[in-house]
Amino acid sequence: MNWYEQVFRPFLFRMDAEGAHHAVLAGLGLVGRIPGTAWLFRHWLGVPEDARLAVDVRGVPFPNPLGLAAGLDKDARAVAGWFALGFGSVEIGTVTPCPQSGNPRPRVWRFPAEEALVNALGFPSAGAATVRERLVGRRFPGPIGVNLGKNAVTPLEHAAGDFEAALLALWDVADYVVLNVSSPNTPGLRTLQDPARLGYLVERMVQLDRELAQLHGEPPRPLFVKVALDVEEVVLDEIVETLVATGAAGLVLGNTSTDPALWPAGGEGLPGGVSGLPLRKRAVERLVRAAERAGERLVLVSVGGVMTVEDAVERIRLGAHLVQLCTGLVYCGPGFPAAVLRHLLHILEKEGIQSVGALRGRSLRY
Ligand SMILES: Cc1cc2nc3c(=O)[nH]c(=O)nc-3n(C[C@H](O)[C@H](O)[C@H](O)COP(=O)(O)O)c2cc1C
Repeated sequence: MNWYEQVFRPFLFRMDAEGAHHAVLAGLGLVGRIPGTAWLFRHWLGVPEDARLAVDVRGVPFPNPLGLAAGLDKDARAVAGWFALGFGSVEIGTVTPCPQSGNPRPRVWRFPAEEALVNALGFPSAGAATVRERLVGRRFPGPIGVNLGKNAVTPLEHAAGDFEAALLALWDVADYVVLNVSSPNTPGLRTLQDPARLGYLVERMVQLDRELAQLHGEPPRPLFVKVALDVEEVVLDEIVETLVATGAAGLVLGNTSTDPALWPAGGEGLPGGVSGLPLRKRAVERLVRAAERAGERLVLVSVGGVMTVEDAVERIRLGAHLVQLCTGLVYCGPGFPAAVLRHLLHILEKEGIQSVGALRGRSLRY
């Protein structure tokens, strides 16, 4: 057990889950405001900086393949702090076009025995304009992903309009964009994963992305779609083809699950979706399937149940270009990203390879 698991985690876990999260966010938020703290954090945690970890995603340079998943910093409150922990990218959001408060509390529950969380947050968001204010004009050590969603009050048939409004507000502060059509906590949202509906939405967004790129005289932002790990493999195949056909850059696989088979004991009857260790096997299966189907045609971001340094390396071996953490951070603590990066470097050295990209698709050699 490390200092986090021995001291800090028991202290945090005595607080209500959302309260503890806000306390951590407030602390990490100081990193952006107090000069020198980012440097101190990186040295204290032993964050490696090494060109072998760098990844290029459709022309966007990532200093390393490990990203913060959407949900932990919905309103861009602590971006510099997350980078100071070692993350190579930070995905903000889900951001909705207009501010909204989400579902009533309590809406996040911990299941330590299963290393899981259940959340039914329902996109609490400061709204796209506020998030833009927090990001505009700032420089960070890696790419900012902006994860977009629809407001709860917007009828499903007008969902594309919400995604467009959010993209318009946030395009210039984003290095990549994610369309979240897979949260279980916004009624009906997951129906947008239906390949025909998804095709329509993505086509509109790709078009708007191109127009904004032209207007700004910059390259288009790589556009990703985040789907649930609950989608059947045959549907995933169709989604892959839809994304390739519409010109999306890639797939984020995936969001929390509503599958009772993955539900933690004692959580029966809770609303929302489960995350953490129970997702590990499903996330691996879906990644393997998507990698088989997509080949080099899509960029794959694997998220779900990455709870050990070995999990992260395995995802890259199985075809992920990028890997994201969410629940693993809650259970393993702020030293986890740096530990993953050190382990990655160790594997590269052991196998005599020069870049993390070359590890992709490379089978285990033990
Ligand atoms: C408290 C919490 C809030 C989340 N909020 C979002 C969100 O706003 N948008 C999103 O796309 N995913 C959200 N997620 C899903 C995570 O980004 C991730 O896809 C999922 O938790 C699986 O990864 P994990 O097992 O590492 O947690 C959230 C997850 C948690 C636990």
